[in-house]
Amino acid sequence: STSVRVADLLSRMTLEEKAGQLTQYFYFGSFGEAPADLDIESLPPEHQLYVRQPQMVREAVAQGSTGSVLFVRDATTANLLQRSAIEKTRLGIPLIFGFDVVHGHRTIFPVPIAQAASWDPDAVEASQRTAAREARASGIHWTFAPMVDIARDARWGRIIEGAGEDPYLGAALAAAQVRGFQGSFGPESILAGPKHFAAYGAARGGRDYDDVEVSDSELRNVYLPPFAAAIEAGAVNIMSAYMELNGVPASGNRWLLRDVLRDELGFTGFVVSDANAVRSLTTQHFAKDAADAATRAITAGLDMEMCTIDPAFASLPQAVRDGLVDESILDEAVARILVVKFDLGLFENPYADEDDEHIVLAASEHRDQARVMAEKSAVLLKNDGLLPLDLDSLNSIAVIGQLADSKRETLGPWVFAHDTEETVTVVEGIRSRVADSAAVRFAAGAGIPSRVFPSMFDGQDADVVNTPEDYDDDNAIEEAVALAAQSDVAVVVVGQQQSQIGENASTSTLSLPGRQLEQLQRIAETGTPVVLLVMSGRPLDLRWADEHIASILEIWYPGTRGGDAAAALLFGDASPAGRLPFTWPRHVGQVPMISSYLRTFQPENQEKRYWDEESSALYPFGHGLNYATITYGAVQLDSDTIEVGGTVSVKVDVTNTSSKPQDEVAQLYIHQRHGRAARPVRELKGFHRVRLEAHETRAVTFTLGPDQLRYWSAADREWVQDPTTIELGVGPSSATTLDTTLTVTPARNR
Ligand code: IFM
Repeated sequence: STSVRVADLLSRMTLEEKAGQLTQYFYFGSFGEAPADLDIESLPPEHQLYVRQPQMVREAVAQGSTGSVLFVRDATTANLLQRSAIEKTRLGIPLIFGFDVVHGHRTIFPVPIAQAASWDPDAVEASQRTAAREARASGIHWTFAPMVDIARDARWGRIIEGAGEDPYLGAALAAAQVRGFQGSFGPESILAGPKHFAAYGAARGGRDYDDVEVSDSELRNVYLPPFAAAIEAGAVNIMSAYMELNGVPASGNRWLLRDVLRDELGFTGFVVSDANAVRSLTTQHFAKDAADAATRAITAGLDMEMCTIDPAFASLPQAVRDGLVDESILDEAVARILVVKFDLGLFENPYADEDDEHIVLAASEHRDQARVMAEKSAVLLKNDGLLPLDLDSLNSIAVIGQLADSKRETLGPWVFAHDTEETVTVVEGIRSRVADSAAVRFAAGAGIPSRVFPSMFDGQDADVVNTPEDYDDDNAIEEAVALAAQSDVAVVVVGQQQSQIGENASTSTLSLPGRQLEQLQRIAETGTPVVLLVMSGRPLDLRWADEHIASILEIWYPGTRGGDAAAALLFGDASPAGRLPFTWPRHVGQVPMISSYLRTFQPENQEKRYWDEESSALYPFGHGLNYATITYGAVQLDSDTIEVGGTVSVKVDVTNTSSKPQDEVAQLYIHQRHGRAARPVRELKGFHRVRLEAHETRAVTFTLGPDQLRYWSAADREWVQDPTTIELGVGPSSATTLDTTLTVTPARNR
């Protein structure tokens, strides 16, 4: 059995070999090697390290001083390193390859926040299944995904990687993604590594990596449910976060990694650190030095250190010899990793099939699936009847905006193995859909000032992608406005560049970068009807657009076939049914902003919290329109009273009164009227995305029981369910009225 094999191997390992298994290196060689004639000595020291890193990692692999490598993206490189681990090391333990397979590998699906907007866990699971299939074909065994951090602050760049603000939706999508990646652990599966444990999304001020202060009850009620669901779904790995949680860095936080993760959530897999997070325990002035960081991280319950070079865990053998760490702690961590390697079959079958890789990556059905996912993800924020466009009545279509024509921006961040060329942009998608039916003309118009990347290497120039001459160009704007004026309709694409969102991409404003708003205003003045497509991974300031533009469709960064999906939605081949996975604020001053707030002292003034701006959301959580007319019948409960611990069934008839099929996302919200804590005005407790044929009525059923009604009480320091009155409602968004009442009485056996 696996445990016998693990025990046998462990008994033959030296301390150094054990530390090796607990170490994971980045492999920069995947992205090319330095030219042979490069004079490395002439480079600044940090740069030299970068250039030498691939060779250093190859040596570490051959010496058995690493058990895992990340950032290998193809089967040939994986096999090369694997052969070295197996043939050159004393015990021949195979490497496990990890990578950030976030929203696809070769085929790029819409970014995670977009997939979340589909409110379709089955479709999300299927997308990640395909991503797993492709990644595994390239020799990857494990992904650092899904990111299940609840994000309530739009300034935080990583909002794009998660499922938004809500723990219920977040939990459903976390579980779906784990099932998608891991499947039944077959040859087309990869391990899932939900991250970043825990509450990383609550970074102070939305500033990435900044510390987090959350109460025990908020941690359990809001931030942990997606992790709990991912673990329940069988996630084998968890990544610990960088930041301090209530003052203690997560990667050295024994309470978090042992008491909460293992004892409360029942996690039995292995924990990997975020990149260089062990060494950063010293940077954070928590650990005295790297050796102290290593000792404290492993003691806290962190099993594997992810690093670019120079692992702190290399000091663990000496720490054991000095009596600073018990060898049994290393053994426990090594065993967790070896179990995974045995269970994945790596000892029997360590190599990827390089021929098969090409066949899997070429699969055109994967690209088609990505197109469908992009259609499912789009959210129609506003529609004054302009959409869908009637092609028969159009002779000329203007497509405007730099983002409409950029293959790279269409894909979004966190892509590494894609084929940029096969990506379909919005303008390409529209052109191929329209064919000869109308003239499609494009103008890039107002540019977007690129984010300036600080250089990786001190003393080097920053990476400036464009300059004011490129983006602050009056002529380009005039050209775009003139084109709009001469066309029957203008499709204007606005948003942020993909580099302006993601890791380490916090923003202090939600305004459209550059002169995009000014250009939009000028285009609107021409009188040509305007459809606004938003390409973003976070809410942006759309106050003006919401007031003046007829139709607004959020298409996110829609992936490889995103342009085809956008065209299908514009011309009504598909009808939008996505819903916002976050509350869309009016302006940056409102964030962090959620729809599940507490009533507070003056609820009647909830909409007047600011003297200088409306307090309400521009669009509430769960909002999204479509091209059909959907009606909801009255909520029917199978009983209007239940005991604490009991369950009720909630049924609603949903009707499509239109003559075309339509997907609808029916959402169940509750509010608890009184109890041991004040509970949010609205909490999502169920949702179903259902397909309704023309004129079809379907009964949609939800179950409300202790899992949905319990919460962690700060006063009691435990999970509780109150005898209370629950108001509930089912509808198309969180703005739904909660006009049905359920009474919850004390349990009789108490
Ligand atoms: O997986 C990521 C993590 O989310 C952020 N830091 C780097 C890791 C590896 O790429």
